[in-house]
Amino acid sequence: MPISAKVRQAMQSQSWIRQMFELGIALKKQYGDENVYDLSLGNPILEPPAAFQAELKKLAEHPGKGTHRYMPNAGYLETRQAVATHIATDTSLSFTDAHIVMTVGAGGAINVTLKALLDPGDEVLVLAPFFPEYMAYADNHGGLARIVKTDESFQPDLEALEKAITPRTKALIVNSPNNPTGVIYTDEKLRGLGQVLARAQTRIGHPVYMISDEPYANLVYDSQPFPRPVHYYETSIIATSYSKDLSLAGERIGYVAVHPSCPDAQELVNACIYTNRVLGFVNAPALMQHLVRALQDSHVDVAWYQRQRDTVYNALKKMGYTLAKPQGAFYAFPRSPIPDDVAFVQELLRERVIVTPGTGFGAPGYFRISYSVEERVLNGALEGFARVAKAHKLG
Ligand SMILES: Cc1ncc(COP(=O)(O)O)c(C=O)c1O
Repeated sequence: MPISAKVRQAMQSQSWIRQMFELGIALKKQYGDENVYDLSLGNPILEPPAAFQAELKKLAEHPGKGTHRYMPNAGYLETRQAVATHIATDTSLSFTDAHIVMTVGAGGAINVTLKALLDPGDEVLVLAPFFPEYMAYADNHGGLARIVKTDESFQPDLEALEKAITPRTKALIVNSPNNPTGVIYTDEKLRGLGQVLARAQTRIGHPVYMISDEPYANLVYDSQPFPRPVHYYETSIIATSYSKDLSLAGERIGYVAVHPSCPDAQELVNACIYTNRVLGFVNAPALMQHLVRALQDSHVDVAWYQRQRDTVYNALKKMGYTLAKPQGAFYAFPRSPIPDDVAFVQELLRERVIVTPGTGFGAPGYFRISYSVEERVLNGALEGFARVAKAHKLG
């Protein structure tokens, strides 16, 4: 066998999101694109804002000398300065370029951070429901992901968190606004979470790092406040990207920002610069670094996503599905009308509606809808949801 047993096993238990996406491709071949309603993938559907195209054109017409060469592994100084100024304003924390490492998306940022932090056997706490790649990311660096449940509103369960911390706990990943639930963690829960982590550090005698995975930080609806996790705990790191709010998912650009008051912040930044290099990323893509420098205040049309959220939430509620109103990101996470979410997803498949079972996010009994799709696809899917709701006598 040419490949490692571990990788073979990981491939066999492949992510549900990918499985559903591939199923969608097969169904589209069979029934035609227009007759399949694929809500499985969190792929930003809007085009990047006009300001992105304008910057791209400027760069193509006037490329600076050496634009395509290697650079410092942390990224261009001017880009890190622009990012630092932006998040310092956003958070009122004293971020400078010295706290920033440009990365290959948020996925790159989390991997760079975990490699910098973990020794073999260290534990990484993950709040369920969770972005499934966290499991692989922890494993990539010899870590053990430990799943901690959230409460019935998908907010952190502080008691469960406290109990889950052991002398091997090195990090906790939080993700707000959340994929897959669309929930934003409350001020009260984050304050409690910060206190739990602070107590744990004293108890176990070493730092526990909070990695705040924030690629949806700018996709927040109804002008509600977005409590920033880094405001509640200093031993923390932001891992994020421009994948969703600038619709640049394929361009792989993001960053790590270490909290300015994090103990040994500079040592951690230096470690991330090193891991960015040796993981083979070397540096974040040069062209994208040039572009995002000038786009710190640009976003896609968040109101469009909010309208999609309203459409899906209002329609499903009316049909009798049970779900919380998503507050951010572009997902809804309804309860499956039958306990077996995988079986329910199969029922939707017969309507050519593709969603992802909650089991894939560590939350059986639910399913995830991505509403980052064309209106036509969403409307077609809602017709299928209505037929299935009727069959189950919901509402
Ligand atoms: C919660 C969460 N974290 C990280 C990522 C990875 O983002 P990126 O494409 O910037 O690597 C995603 C992508 O969907 C996500 O949903």
